Amino acid sequence: LAKIEIKLSDIPEGRSVTFKWRGKPLFIRHRTEKEIEVARAVPVASLRDPEEDSARCKNPAWLVVVGVCTHLGCVPIANAGDFGPGGYYCPCHGSHFDAAGRVRKGPAPINLVIPSHSFVGDGTLIVG
Ligand code: FES
Repeated sequence: LAKIEIKLSDIPEGRSVTFKWRGKPLFIRHRTEKEIEVARAVPVASLRDPEEDSARCKNPAWLVVVGVCTHLGCVPIANAGDFGPGGYYCPCHGSHFDAAGRVRKGPAPINLVIPSHSFVGDGTLIVG
């Protein structure tokens, strides 16, 4: 399917749910206050691929990323790695990502990819 529609009320706070979109895994994370606070406090200049949390998560409660490691394409594990709360860890060669999907350690050259998406009125997310 080119577009996928996700009902946000199905995803509890603190959970990262994996959907399938265009043949790839798609992670939708309902971020907690703590995850947002920690991700927003990271000095952007310290990042390999410098992106503000607010630029990646326009709606702070939600992270929407393609669940494919930017190193060699493995699928990272949610709520794992050294850069939580709410981070991701790729077991293939040890890349760590934070709760904004930004690479923080390991061989991944860039952040997890954010697909084009939009939020519509009644708690629906459309990706694609
Ligand atoms: Fe993820 Fe290599 S594919 S670290």
